[in-house]
Amino acid sequence: MNAEVNIDGLWPDGAGAGRLGDGSVRVDGLVPGDRATVRLEHQRGKVWRGVLESLTAPSPARRASPCPWSASCGGCDLDVLSPDARRDAVASSVARTLGLADPPVFVPSPRDPGHRARVTLELRDGHVGFHRAGTTEIVPVGACRAARPEVEAALQVVARWVASDPAASTSFSSVELRSDGAHVVAALTRRADAPRGVAALPDLPDVAVGGRVARGDTTSRLEVEGFVLEAGPESFYQVNLEVNQRMVAWVVAQAAEVKPERVLELYAGIGNLTLPLARAVGVPVVAVEIAGPSMRDLRLNLKKAVGAVEAVTCDVGRYDLRANPYDVLVLDPPRAGAGPALARALEQRPRRVVYVSCNVPALATELSRVRGYRVTDVRLFDMFPDTHHVEAVVVLDRC
Ligand SMILES: C[S@@+](CC[C@H](N)C(=O)[O-])C[C@H]1O[C@@H](n2cnc3c(N)ncnc32)[C@H](O)[C@@H]1O
Repeated sequence: MNAEVNIDGLWPDGAGAGRLGDGSVRVDGLVPGDRATVRLEHQRGKVWRGVLESLTAPSPARRASPCPWSASCGGCDLDVLSPDARRDAVASSVARTLGLADPPVFVPSPRDPGHRARVTLELRDGHVGFHRAGTTEIVPVGACRAARPEVEAALQVVARWVASDPAASTSFSSVELRSDGAHVVAALTRRADAPRGVAALPDLPDVAVGGRVARGDTTSRLEVEGFVLEAGPESFYQVNLEVNQRMVAWVVAQAAEVKPERVLELYAGIGNLTLPLARAVGVPVVAVEIAGPSMRDLRLNLKKAVGAVEAVTCDVGRYDLRANPYDVLVLDPPRAGAGPALARALEQRPRRVVYVSCNVPALATELSRVRGYRVTDVRLFDMFPDTHHVEAVVVLDRC
C-alpha cells in the first residue's frame, strides 16, 4: 500500500517523520519539507514504517550531498540539508523527544566540515572504508570531508599503504586516526591471525599497534580550558575539539553556579571535565571511571589539577554512592546512558545535576524516570555536524 506523505520533522534516529491518518510515519532518507510517495511496510502501534518510492516535491532546504560516498556510507545522514535547516530540524526533534516547549539553544561547530578529530577506518581487501551505519558492512571511501584536514591527509596515507601493500589489510583490521590539532596518532588493530613483522603504516610518524607505541609519539594533547590533557591511543577522546571546549566551559559553569560543597563526577574519562571543574568549583571532586587506559591518563593529568580530586577506578554501577557525600552531580555516560545508576545517584538528593549525553533517546528514557527534579536548562552542542547526532547538556535542579 502506498501513501503520499508530508515530512514535518525528524525521529530521534534521524528518519523523516510525518502524519498519517490518526498516527504517524517514519521514512529513512526523508527530511522536513519533503513530500513523497512511500510504500507502507508495516505498522507498530500508530507508527507506520514507510519506504521511499518517489520524492514528489523535495524540501526547499535540500541540497545535493557534498560527499560522493554519503549515500552508501550513511555516516553524515543529514548532509542533504543546509546547515541552518539541519540545526532547526535537530533542535526541534530534541525538543519533541525530551518534551520541551521550545527548541533548545544550539551551539554550532566552528568547523563544518573538517570537524572530526577522530575517525576509525576499516581495512579490508586492499580497501579503506567506514562501517555502513548500523552494520558490519564496509563502505570503501576515497576521502572524508568531515575529517579535519590533517586527519584527511593521514587517511590518504592509509589508503595508499593499503592499496600498495597487500599485507596491510590482511594484518590489520582497522586504524583510528586522532588529531589534537598538532599531530595525528594512528592506532592500528592487528588481526588475531596476522603474520608478524609487517611494517605498520611506514609513512606516518606516530603509530600505535594494539595500544602500544610502534613509532613516534602516540600521546594526544587535548587543550581544554587552559589545561593540556594527555590521552593515550586507547583512552576516550572527544570527536570535535572546538565544540568540546565550548561544551566543557558550559558544563563547568553550570556546576559552579550553585556553589557546591562537594562534587561527584561519573564517567570521567581522561579528565576532560574533571580538571576544569575542580578549578572552577574549588571544592573536593570525586571522579569515577572504569577504563584502565583512561584512568591512567586521568591520574597523570591530575598532577596538573588546581583542586582536590579523588580518582576512583570503578564501574559506576558498583560504586558506593554513599561513600562520599556530594551536592552536585556531573555525569557523562557512554551512548547507552547511565541506566539504574542515575536513580541511585539521585537518592543522595544532590541540589543540581549536569547530565552530558550523546544519545538523546536514551537521555529521554532516563529523564522520564526521574522524580523530584525539574529540567532547568537544555543546551545542544554540535559535536557531529551533518548528522542527526548532537551532544546535549541537561541541567536538573532539585524541586
Ligand atoms: C562519553 S565518555 C566521557 C568521558 C569524559 N567525561 C570526557 O568528557 O571526555 C564516557 C566514559 O565513561 C567510561 N565508562 C563507560 N562505562 C562505565 C562504567 N560502567 N563505569 C565507569 N565508567 C564508565 C568510559 O570509559 C568513558 O571514559
